[in-house]
Amino acid sequence: MTNTAEPRHAAHEQTDRGYIPIYTTAVVEQPWSTYSQTDNAVWAALFRRQRDVLPGRACRELLENMERFGMRADRIPRFDDLNKMLRRATGWELIAVEGLLPESVFFDHLSKRRFPVTWWIRKPEQVDYIAEPDLFHDLFGHVPLLLNPVFADFMHAYGCGGVKASRIGPEALMNLTRLYWYTVEFGLIRTAEGLRIYGAGIASSKAESIHALESPAPNRLGFDLERVMRTKYRIDTFQKTYFVIDSFESLFEATLPDLAPVYAELREMPPHGAGDVLPSDRVDHRGTREGWALDADF
Ligand code: PHE
Ligand code: CO
Repeated sequence: MTNTAEPRHAAHEQTDRGYIPIYTTAVVEQPWSTYSQTDNAVWAALFRRQRDVLPGRACRELLENMERFGMRADRIPRFDDLNKMLRRATGWELIAVEGLLPESVFFDHLSKRRFPVTWWIRKPEQVDYIAEPDLFHDLFGHVPLLLNPVFADFMHAYGCGGVKASRIGPEALMNLTRLYWYTVEFGLIRTAEGLRIYGAGIASSKAESIHALESPAPNRLGFDLERVMRTKYRIDTFQKTYFVIDSFESLFEATLPDLAPVYAELREMPPHGAGDVLPSDRVDHRGTREGWALDADF
C-alpha cells in the first residue's frame, strides 16, 4: 500500500472513446487525514447541491441508502467507515484507487465484490463539470446502490461478465461497456411516481439530473438488453437517449443468460446512433432533439 498526495498518471491510452488517462492500477490507502479544507469544501458544496436536487428525481433506493450510510455534507466520508456497513449488507467493499482503471483490472475487482473509488476530489473550478470520475462521482453516485441486494448482485455479475467478455474479444467488451453506460451510469427507472434516476453519472451531476428527467430534447426509451448493447453513446455531452428499466430485478434477470450468442449476433449488425429511435422501441418520450444540431455525430 502506498499513500500519495497527488494522483499519479501512469499513461494515457487512445481508445475508441477518445484519449483517456490511465492511472497506476494499485490499490492505495485513502489518505483521509490529508484532505484539505478546500477538498472538504468541494465535497460539501456538491453534496448540498445534489441533496437539494435529487429528492423527487432520484429513486427511493438511492436516497434511502445514502441516508443509511450516514453520508454528510461536512466531511468527506472515510471508506473504512462505509465498508463496515457495506460488508455486512451485501458483501461489497470499497477500495481506494488513483482513478480510471484498465477494463481488465476493473472487472477483476467487481468480480470479487470490490468497488474501486477514486480517492481524490475535483478542484473548485471543476464543480460543474469534470471529464473523468473523481471521489464525488464514485462515492456519491455509485456507492449508495451497492447497499441494495439486487443491484449489488447485478454489479458482481457484471464484473464476472466482463472477465468473460474480455476473453471473447473487443466487440463483446464494447457491447458490455454500452450496457454499463446506459444503466449503471445513465439509467432511469420506472416507479409508481414516474421516472426516477438511478445512474451515477446523472445522480452526481446537477445539470444532468434536471436534463435527464425534464428536458424535452433526449429520448427516454424502454430498456432492452440487445438494443442497449448495440447503441453508441456520447461521453462529452448530455445523453441523447436514456433507457428506462422497470426494476432492478428485471435488469438483473435480463443479464442472467449466457451472453456469448448475443455478442456473436451483434457482431454482424451495425450499431445504432446515440439519438436513434427505432420502430421496435418502447417510447416513454421521443426527444425533440433540441440543440443537437450543435453536436456532431449522434
Ligand atoms: N450472463 C452474462 C454472460 O454470460 C454476464 C453478465 C452479467 C453480463 C451481468 C452483464 C451483466 O456474459
Ligand atoms: Co461512474
